[in-house]
Amino acid sequence: MAHEVRGVVARGKGQPVSLETIVVPDPGPGEALVAVQACGVCHTDLHYREGGINDDFPFLLGHEAAGVVEAVGEGVTDVAPGDFVILNWRAVCGACRACLRGRPQYCFATHNATRKMTLADGTPLSPALGIGAFADKTLVAAGQCTKVDPSASAVAVGLLGCGIMAGLGAAINTGGVTRGDSVAVIGCGGVGDAAVAGAHLAGATTIIAVDVDDTKLDWARRFGATHTVNSRDTDAVEAIRDLTGGFGADVVIEAVGRPETYKQAFYARDLAGTVVLVGVPTPEMRLELPLLDVFGRGGALKSSWYGDCLPSRDFPMLVSLYQQGRLDLDAFVTETIALEDVEAAFEKMHHGEVLRSVVVL
Ligand SMILES: NC(=O)c1ccc[n+]([C@@H]2O[C@H](COP(=O)([O-])OP(=O)(O)OC[C@H]3O[C@@H](n4cnc5c(N)ncnc54)[C@H](O)[C@@H]3O)[C@@H](O)[C@H]2O)c1
Ligand SMILES: [Zn+2]
Ligand SMILES: [Zn+2]
Repeated sequence: MAHEVRGVVARGKGQPVSLETIVVPDPGPGEALVAVQACGVCHTDLHYREGGINDDFPFLLGHEAAGVVEAVGEGVTDVAPGDFVILNWRAVCGACRACLRGRPQYCFATHNATRKMTLADGTPLSPALGIGAFADKTLVAAGQCTKVDPSASAVAVGLLGCGIMAGLGAAINTGGVTRGDSVAVIGCGGVGDAAVAGAHLAGATTIIAVDVDDTKLDWARRFGATHTVNSRDTDAVEAIRDLTGGFGADVVIEAVGRPETYKQAFYARDLAGTVVLVGVPTPEMRLELPLLDVFGRGGALKSSWYGDCLPSRDFPMLVSLYQQGRLDLDAFVTETIALEDVEAAFEKMHHGEVLRSVVVL
């Protein structure tokens, strides 16, 4: 049996998204049908709409979501109908070289559903990041469903499905921030603020938030920033050095995705410090640095995909910290909206007015 539901579709490059009837098949082997309860609007959805990811239009957007499993296909044992789950885009295969080396967070062959969701006329849809959750129901690989405590708010914990996990993990997993560290975060949108929150959780004592927008800097304080720098009128590198005894920060997280902010991150870290790039650059961007500085400063230059998270390990732990009041996921939710409002939410995101708009179903 197929399900006719509503879904937010991007039909062509740069075209406004439309709310359409979509057809979601019953789950095949290894798949799960999920009734979506909440889905955050992420910058990557906008990248898809603008043709910045690939040209596989039409896309079914939305990928930062939580909901309830409605049905499972043959052979699915990890989740069952009625389970409350966060959807993830890292359903690890368990068999590739990374998985076999015990590093499943770098899995090269993550699973998505193979049955196709379609438009009413049968045109196959490409679900964003293999999820497609701006819809009443979506079809995913069962491994994309991570079971968590059902008493948690779907609006809040769904955010762990993408951007907030990316920022938290950039600090905790990739950056390895630990007690007593000094950390600087450049770019304090949803991802950067999550990196601030991650640094705070990990016990960093100095957390410097850098942005060009004072509102964002005010918000960053709520997540644990101890200092703020507006790099529109202050030199970010000098300011970070001044705030760290002249040395630079132990870990600098770049959450913008531009060569000039990456350079700031590179020079604002202490000798032997770590730079983590979590912002996503565009294909034409180039970086130029004296190779001697790369060598001479030592340390580590890393990039972080999805916060190097392992959903089965990290989601339940972070939900638990949220429920204990130690991780304020609610503070990331600027507004809750309906499926009809996704296009307007893109506009607000573009103007920097929101950390997260979350569609509630
Ligand atoms: N690596 C991953 O797995 C992953 C996952 C999700 C999102 N992302 C990426 O993370 C980045 C941030 O996402 P977001 O949702 O927080 O976006 P956002 O637009 O909400 O935030 C970007 C922030 O950077 C600030 N900014 C812009 N130019 C700046 C500059 N020159 N100096 C300092 N600050 C500047 C903006 O004022 C804004 O606050 C994006 O590139 C996004 O695609 C990466
Ligand atoms: Zn694998
Ligand atoms: Zn995302």
